[in-house]
Amino acid sequence: MNGSSQIFENIDALYVALEKQWQLVARAAIVDHGAFHVALAGGSTPRHFYKKLAQQSAIDEHCWHKTHIYFGDERCVPQDHPDSNYRMVKETLLSAAPLLPEHVHAMFSTDFSVEQNVARYETLLHDTLPLDVKRCPVFDLVLLGMGEDGHTASLFPDTEILHESVKPVAAQFVQKLEAWRISLTFLTINAASHVAVLIAGDAKAKILADIFSAEKDAVVRYPIQQVNPTGQLDWYLDTAAAHLLNVQD
Ligand code: 6PG
Repeated sequence: MNGSSQIFENIDALYVALEKQWQLVARAAIVDHGAFHVALAGGSTPRHFYKKLAQQSAIDEHCWHKTHIYFGDERCVPQDHPDSNYRMVKETLLSAAPLLPEHVHAMFSTDFSVEQNVARYETLLHDTLPLDVKRCPVFDLVLLGMGEDGHTASLFPDTEILHESVKPVAAQFVQKLEAWRISLTFLTINAASHVAVLIAGDAKAKILADIFSAEKDAVVRYPIQQVNPTGQLDWYLDTAAAHLLNVQD
């Protein structure tokens, strides 16, 4: 698998290491282009990280004021819905860190249709992020989780969005969830300067072993195997998720 992986005895040690990377990337981005553009993942693993980041982090106020929060994906539900990633991030990070409200960019609002939300986010990304030579928005950091089916963001197995090669963000009806999702596409994820994948717990161990033991040019079995950024890729694993990995993986 691409990138470098770190295995941590417990989830708290994982969060400490990830917070250090967040700080380093943020400071470098602010020096380079005056802002830190980060896309957050949904799910339970990142949830606790956001809470710690807001409450205990050594990130100074200047850094928070230059930080722009985006979403890697979102469920197409009201922002106060229990399934909303925006609600989860608001409860854990936005309500506790000194972020500027105008720097928090929700991905979905019931004020607009799914397609209108996608168009608005695409415009936002092009207007606020640096663009690469192909005019693709470049995040400083994209945080990703991984589901037990190998999905990441809202890029699920056997969905068309996996093959999106023009749009930086798109909508996808996910049959098995019977729900609409909006997600960054691999085009944008792979244009990022840094991508950090957070995977914890025994339930992910088997699929992780499959992914890490796959031959370099093997057929892609899981969506997360399409994460291959031009920038830096780091896998943050706990021992429970990594216990089936071979040392040389
Ligand atoms: C979402 C996420 C999704 C999540 C993984 C891992 O909106 O659900 O973006 O990709 O990160 O499913 O979730 P857990 O950390 O809860 O296993």
